[in-house]
Amino acid sequence: MCGIVGYLGPRDPKDVLIGGLKSLEYRGYDSAGIAILHRGEFKRIRAEGKLLNLENKVKNEEFDGHLGIGHTRWATHGPPSERNAHPHCVGGVSLVHNGIIENYSELREELGRGGAVFSSDTDSELVAHLLASETKSGRPLFEAVLAVLPRLRGAYSILAVSQEEPNVMVAFKNGPPLVVGKGHHEVVIASDVQALLPYTKDVVYLHDHEVLVVKGEEFKLTAPDGKPLPIKTVHINWSPEQAEKCGYPHFMLKEIFEQPRAVAAAMAPHIDLALKAVKLQRVGFGASSVEDLATLKADQDWAATQRVLSETERVFIVACGTSFYAGMIGEYLLERLAGVPVEVDIASEFRYRHPVLPPKSLLIVISQSGETADTLAALRMAKGSGTKVLSICNVKSSSIDREADGHLYMNAGVEIGVASTKALVATIALLNILALAMGQERRQLKAAEVKDFLEALQAAPSQMETVLAYNQWFSEAAATLKKHKGFLYMGRGVSFPVAMEGALKLKELAYMHAEGYAAGEMKHGPLALIDDRMAVVMLAPQDDLQEKTISNLEEVKARGGKIIAVGTGEDPKLRRLSEHYVALPEAPWTVNPLLEVIPVQLLAYHVASSLGHDVDQPRNLAKSVTVE
Ligand code: F6R
Repeated sequence: MCGIVGYLGPRDPKDVLIGGLKSLEYRGYDSAGIAILHRGEFKRIRAEGKLLNLENKVKNEEFDGHLGIGHTRWATHGPPSERNAHPHCVGGVSLVHNGIIENYSELREELGRGGAVFSSDTDSELVAHLLASETKSGRPLFEAVLAVLPRLRGAYSILAVSQEEPNVMVAFKNGPPLVVGKGHHEVVIASDVQALLPYTKDVVYLHDHEVLVVKGEEFKLTAPDGKPLPIKTVHINWSPEQAEKCGYPHFMLKEIFEQPRAVAAAMAPHIDLALKAVKLQRVGFGASSVEDLATLKADQDWAATQRVLSETERVFIVACGTSFYAGMIGEYLLERLAGVPVEVDIASEFRYRHPVLPPKSLLIVISQSGETADTLAALRMAKGSGTKVLSICNVKSSSIDREADGHLYMNAGVEIGVASTKALVATIALLNILALAMGQERRQLKAAEVKDFLEALQAAPSQMETVLAYNQWFSEAAATLKKHKGFLYMGRGVSFPVAMEGALKLKELAYMHAEGYAAGEMKHGPLALIDDRMAVVMLAPQDDLQEKTISNLEEVKARGGKIIAVGTGEDPKLRRLSEHYVALPEAPWTVNPLLEVIPVQLLAYHVASSLGHDVDQPRNLAKSVTVE
């Protein structure tokens, strides 16, 4: 939801800002813009649409200054257009903004009464007006920001610069992420660490209500009342190369192919290879902050985790989108392997439905970005009522990771495609591990059972590699598949959330009608949709529900539906019933979702690309949803 970048230093700010915006474009691509000091004033260049339009506009532009800010927009207030693109420049102040100013209308009216003339429809521009009215009397930018903050309501982050102070940048975080790092005689600020990686791997994540003041090569943090705050540096071990496509046509396809590695990396730290048992590493229940995790004594920490796992009487899993479907799979795993009651909720529902959280509950929040506004709000609500929170995140030190009591990491590496892929499989692997750990600690599973499930899980990455071989088939079949009027995805048990995920992927990438259903629900309505133009993706791997799913398939076949069946090995029944058959390797039910999700991802990817859609940046979406 909008990407912010700022640079102060000896390089050409144009190159740093455009480079930074490229790595932030996943956050929004309705418009982009930069403002760089040139001959003592900000020269601003903006363009509607993708970053490429801005790149073409700026390529022959020159700037003599060393201070600049940039922005890539996901529209909230005001349609996507150049007029609404950031930065907003008023009276020598330039500003970029991510988030929403909730009291926008009243402030805009008030400023209008005072004679302000607006040149955009955004809530962001009024912050530039407020700052300009403070700086016009000679007030330094830092003080102007402190004076304006109490007037703004909402979840927002801003970065402001002033032509009167060519050596200064001031930022404030209240919600959407901001991170800062020092390179060689330079400082870079951005919404995401990826924009900083070419310059430094030692970064500082801003916490909510922190003001960042950059002066020359130095920076400090203060509270909104100006009192100094401590700075905690985090070392990042991602490399900038991870953010390259490495020969794949899209990030999404590269990330689909990285999934076996993501699964292996997610589970590896938590498997005691000698004992063939689960031992969760440095979860940190009881640690004072995420920064302390690395130095925790592993055995003491495991003992604290064991206590939580055995004492928990009820689990709540809360997330959005694809992460929510991972949570649904978690429900099946935790209930069946650990015997603990589980409720799964969409974060935007959970936070407003006044959920009853009994004592000894554990809330598990799942978020690739760690910044999803509704998931973060659900976490805060549960913590406020004394419930312990365990986060499953990909981005370390993200807001959700920092605020949770316990932490599990996807270790999936940077995920750039807007549609989530490898984060999902990494989460499914972690939920398997967590369910086994809980089952083990609560004596629901015998050591031999844990060992068998673990062995199957460890075999999953190489089995996933074999399923990836279907890539070629889907790329050829896409030309036919895209002609269907719609897609119904169905499955039972853990295959049901995968069906939901398959439908979501097709909707968001191919913009086609698709629905995910529990196969047993078919007769209760969706069967009416079936005719020879409707494709049905039936997820029917070998498990204790397969026979029932096959009966559902017969019903679809009898009504002329075009069936793509996903099953286990050579399955003559499924082959007979289906138009196309995808054979997965044999695995227990716990591992099946890791295998069956690959064909549904490949289907959506190839249908969308054959329709000519931008699969890495689907229309109207953004990767990190930092507003509710
Ligand atoms: C779908 C997708 C989204 C995200 C959702 C949650 O492909 O990517 O549905 O899964 O926005 O995002 P995180 O996991 O970052 O909280």
